[in-house]
Amino acid sequence: MTLEEALQDEVRLTRDQNLTSIQSYLLAEEAKHPQATGSFTWLLSAISLSAKFIAARCRRARIEAVLGATEGENVHAERQQKLDVIANETLLRCLGSRPVVSIIASEENEEPLILRQSEPGDIRPYVVLFDPLDGSSNLDVCGGVGTIFSVLHHDRRSDAPENSVLQPGTHQVAAGYVLYGPSTVLVMTTGNGVQMFVLDPSIGSFLLVDPQVRIPDGTKSYSLNEAYVNSFPEGYQRYLEWTKNNGYSQRYVGTMVADVHRVLMKGGVFLYPPTDKAPQGKLRLMYEANPMSFLMEQAGGKAYSGTQRTLEIEPEKIHERTSVIMGSPSEVDRVLSFLQ
Ligand code: AHG
Ligand code: MN
Ligand code: MN
Repeated sequence: MTLEEALQDEVRLTRDQNLTSIQSYLLAEEAKHPQATGSFTWLLSAISLSAKFIAARCRRARIEAVLGATEGENVHAERQQKLDVIANETLLRCLGSRPVVSIIASEENEEPLILRQSEPGDIRPYVVLFDPLDGSSNLDVCGGVGTIFSVLHHDRRSDAPENSVLQPGTHQVAAGYVLYGPSTVLVMTTGNGVQMFVLDPSIGSFLLVDPQVRIPDGTKSYSLNEAYVNSFPEGYQRYLEWTKNNGYSQRYVGTMVADVHRVLMKGGVFLYPPTDKAPQGKLRLMYEANPMSFLMEQAGGKAYSGTQRTLEIEPEKIHERTSVIMGSPSEVDRVLSFLQ
């Protein structure tokens, strides 16, 4: 190899296989927008710090005896897992210290937390909603769990700051999830496609592995808790019946983050229909369905709640539930065709 060829190789390597951390990715994105203040980078660094902390605790769950349930219940009358509480506190501590966050709403807290302005001119542009630990009951069996987050602009026109939280999903400025599996994966969107980062635990950094995630189409696969089939509305039952004669396979972890991540990577559809037990559906609109729907659409997929586009639902309550159909565009269309 000549010296010139070697140099060309080096140029190619830095261009095509460069190591980009989540911080450097965000800084490079912000540099494209001269009006950017850097406040979003502050916010995301709080989320990535929380994710590293929660990932480390999940990894040591059985060693540290943080498995199992606490005595407390959350607002949905569900028993909180010990790590639910730890994950929630971690996010509150990381986000609470950031001067760019005005309101925090969590699955584990009945009311949103309003972070007071410390002095005049303290602007705090963002509202952050999250499910600190999704699929937490799977921790006891060493299954994948996750964190889901949604970011909105603080709506200053509203008199009650809490109302700032109740915005439709179309208003999200960013959304994402972290999957704590064999590796820790952070998938996010700021409305400019979907980016995927993987935590390199040896250096403690999330590294960019895919700058533009696209959901495959045409995959014959669905993900739902089929044990409830008899209590699904009839259209879902007919779709599931149809799949049985058309070569489909089924996958279900029972952690929304893990199931949706699979659908995002491999294609197919993730469903949580209404049931007799949960007539509105089980999953929560504001910090489960909306952020995942934003990601799905940004990756080229679709997301509906029954026959309505999820992101267009006008929320009435922070903890409201919704049914969920999301995934590859043609598979979501197929499900919808059975619901008509
Ligand atoms: P969480 O652990 O945050 O309460 O969420 C659990 C959710 C979601 O992750 C999953 O898709 C769903 O519950 C599973 O419900 P079923 O057990 O009814 O299938
Ligand atoms: Mn959840
Ligand atoms: Mn949860």
